[in-house]
Formats: sequence, C-alpha cells, structure tokens
Amino acid sequence: MSALSCCIHSAPCRFWNSSIGKKIIVALTGIVLVGFLAGHLIGNLLIFQGEHAFNDYAHFLQTMLHGYGVWIARIFLLTSLVLHVTATIQLTIANRAARNIEYQRPATVTASASSRMMIWSGSTILAFIVFHIFHYTVRVSPELAEIGAENPHAMVIAGFSNILVSLFYLIAMTLLCSHLSHGVGSIFQTLGLRSHKTALPIDLFSRAFALFIWLGFISIPIAIMVFGFGK
Ligand code: HEM
Repeated sequence: MSALSCCIHSAPCRFWNSSIGKKIIVALTGIVLVGFLAGHLIGNLLIFQGEHAFNDYAHFLQTMLHGYGVWIARIFLLTSLVLHVTATIQLTIANRAARNIEYQRPATVTASASSRMMIWSGSTILAFIVFHIFHYTVRVSPELAEIGAENPHAMVIAGFSNILVSLFYLIAMTLLCSHLSHGVGSIFQTLGLRSHKTALPIDLFSRAFALFIWLGFISIPIAIMVFGFGK
C-alpha cells in the first residue's frame, strides 16, 4: 500500500472526507472562533476604561508566555479558520451539486438562499480579517505604525477617525452578526443538541449572542466617529 493510499484510508482522512465529519469540524472550529470573538470583544471594550487599561491589556497579550503566547494563539486560530473555511466551502459545493442533480423544486430555494448568505457573509468576514490584520496588527499605514508602537489606544482612535475605514468595519460587523445568528444555532444542530424542546432557547441564544457581538464591536467606531470619543 502506498503512503498516499495509507493516508487516504486513515481515520482522520475518512472523517474529513465524510459530510458529517466536515460538519463537525465546522462546528468545533466555529466554537473556537466564537470564543475568540467574545474574548477579543471584551478586551477591546477596555478602550472605554481608558488608555491605561487598554494599553496594559495590549502589552499583556504581546508579552504573555515570554512573547510565545500570542504566536501559539495565532497558530491555533489560523488553523481553526483555515479548517472552518475549507470545510464550509467544500460542503457548500457538494450541497449545490447534490441539489442540482436531485431536485429542481421551489422548496429548496429557501435553504439555498440562507446557505448562500452564509457563504457571502463568511467571505466578507474573511476579507475583513485580512484588512483588519494589515490595519492594526501589521500596521501598513506609517502613521498607525508610529502611534501603535507607543500607544495602541491612540492607534485605534486614529484608525477609526477615517470615515471610510469605520464604514467598512460597520458593514463587516453587521455581516458578522448575520453570520453568527445563523452559525451559532447550527453548532448546536450539528452537535445533536437541538430538539423540539431546545430549538427556541437555542435560536434566542444565537440571536442574543450575535446582537451582543455586533453592538459591542460597532460601539467602538461609532463612539469615535460620531461622538468624538478619545479625541
Ligand atoms: C471595533 C472592533 C475591533 C477592534 C477595535 C479591534 C482591535 C484589534 C487590534 C488593536 C488588534 C491588534 C492586536 C495586536 O496585534 O496587538 C486586533 C487584532 C485582530 N483582530 Fe480585531 N478588532 C476589532 C474587531 C475584530 C473582529 C470583528 C474580528 C473578527 C471577525 C477581529 C479579529 C482580529 C484578529 C484575527 C486579529 C489578529 C490577532 C493577531 O494575530 O494579533 N477583530 N484587533
């Protein structure tokens, strides 16, 4: 047996190649990403506590575990994101192919519209993450690079003082809210936790969580842009 066929027939490969295996990967990596979002939001909200609180938090992240902590978190997050996106794209392609062959009925239009929305909101979030990393982590703008090295609090205020940048954040976070309100519910469904009895609380929880994330994130550019916070 060749090394390739050995790999293809291994348990992790068979799991990945099955539809339920991919759905479970999407759900588990979704939990990691949702956990990151909640943590990132709570950290970011320290901006309202003032310069010291926010800068101390940024400094802690950069220096935890002698600087290795942030890289461990980055690798873990990036792996989760790549698995989440790859499995979702492959599942969407397989679903569409199956639908085109098996049914041509209007009943499938609703499901396909909602899954199309997930793929579009997901793609925009992905584009946003790339932009966001260049904006605040890599700091391609020389102005933000100079401020950010000294004062991350001032860097965020300067970043959101650009109206076009802030508008893009608002659009991306609104799509993130839509993605989460559907996606968080799907995690419960995939993990077999959704039943007749739990469907309503799960839907309410997903929407409340999405709303919390949306309001929390948009509050920062809105406070800076509309109310002049930090200027
Ligand atoms: C008001 C909204 C947000 C603010 C103020 C904000 C702020 C920041 C800052 C300052 C950094 C740089 C951290 C550093 O390198 O020291 C960062 C990194 C990051 N943010 Fe956000 N963020 C926001 C929204 C989001 C959202 C909605 C997402 C995900 C959809 C996100 C995902 C990330 C990721 C993946 C990183 C890179 C972490 C790293 O590798 O350093 N952020 N954010």
